[in-house]
Amino acid sequence: MSNDLPRRNVLRAAAAVGVGGVAAATLAGTAEAATGKAKPAWPGGKLTITKDSFGKTSAGDAVDRYSFGQKGRLWVRMLTYGATIQSIEVPDRWGRVADVHLGFNTIEEYQALSPYFGATIGRFANRIAKGQFTLDGKQYQIPVNNGVNALHGGPIGFDKKIWSTEVINDHDSVGVKFSYVSADGEMGFPGRLPIDVTYTVNRRGELRIHYIATTDKPTIVNFTNHAYFNLAGEANGEIYDHVVVLNADKYTPIDATSIPLGPLPAVAGTPFDFRGPHTFGERIQKADQQILNALGYDHNWVLNRSAGSPPSLAARVLEPKSGRLLECLTTEPGVQVYTSNFLTGSFAGKSGNTYRQGAAFTLETQHYPDSPNEPSYPTTVLRPGQTFDSTTLFRFSTR
Ligand code: GLA
Repeated sequence: MSNDLPRRNVLRAAAAVGVGGVAAATLAGTAEAATGKAKPAWPGGKLTITKDSFGKTSAGDAVDRYSFGQKGRLWVRMLTYGATIQSIEVPDRWGRVADVHLGFNTIEEYQALSPYFGATIGRFANRIAKGQFTLDGKQYQIPVNNGVNALHGGPIGFDKKIWSTEVINDHDSVGVKFSYVSADGEMGFPGRLPIDVTYTVNRRGELRIHYIATTDKPTIVNFTNHAYFNLAGEANGEIYDHVVVLNADKYTPIDATSIPLGPLPAVAGTPFDFRGPHTFGERIQKADQQILNALGYDHNWVLNRSAGSPPSLAARVLEPKSGRLLECLTTEPGVQVYTSNFLTGSFAGKSGNTYRQGAAFTLETQHYPDSPNEPSYPTTVLRPGQTFDSTTLFRFSTR
């Protein structure tokens, strides 16, 4: 935690993200912190949605943008290209609104530069070792696009597709259902796979992401959204002071190519222990082999939850100066937390400022990386007659 942070904010921060509550509340010593209640800073405004054109891809396909939510509370912009989150506007504890998501102003930049900023990822989020897996005795090869491995569905994943849309607007939520049909054999994956991903904002400051997919042949699936958050505001410094809690006793250590080693060791005693509040920056410079392998945090945490239960807490992240708190709940078994280690300042984002290492963090809820090659991990196989159904919530408030 940085030295210049006012002490009061640090204490509030610890209290707000603590899962245990008691120790954190004692730390803070205030009734507000002890109850953990958000200040009711915003009057409930109208849920609205608008649509405009976002230009054309290099292939000449029209891209639309939907803007939806509750202005002044949670306002999201999404593109039909990649079912991509372009921006997320939320207030700080004084009601001052900022965009807390990295991105670009033009489709040209998304096509040429984007490291998956805000995109919907499929057919297989994260890595498959050497792009290879065996299913029902048959070998498959996905084209590799990340050193020796396949990443985020191969070179042309769902993040580069134009999705069709249907507006969702009921009394409690507003947003868009994005649909895409992945052909049998696309990027080497078996089975025709129709997928609907619905993004909605409700009056409780939540962005809900709901994935539904089916297949006509046995296949593998792993979906996520690759949102890049900076709760201090996009291009407003680095995320190292953000205070983090991850609801995970175990994680998946990786090799030098970011493929899990197999076993799921305890986080206890490692820089991966976020069961109590720690900043991203506190241990990120440790010469720990896992930190070295990934140039920082770029790992999957094994969430403490039982399969089949409703969405449960995966992560809480607080930016102490603004008081913005992001909670992530999910039905997925894991979350990949990435501290933008590969951003090098080689391009600028929406505000004209460059994005460097630590410019953002991700909470990619998903199955564990390389699951098709690790039988002990929860299965990613989807068979005809089954429906893949998964929900992730990003809940915004202030402390
Ligand atoms: C995921 C991966 C990272 C990186 C980013 C995109 O978070 O785990 O290694 O590839 O996507 O740059």
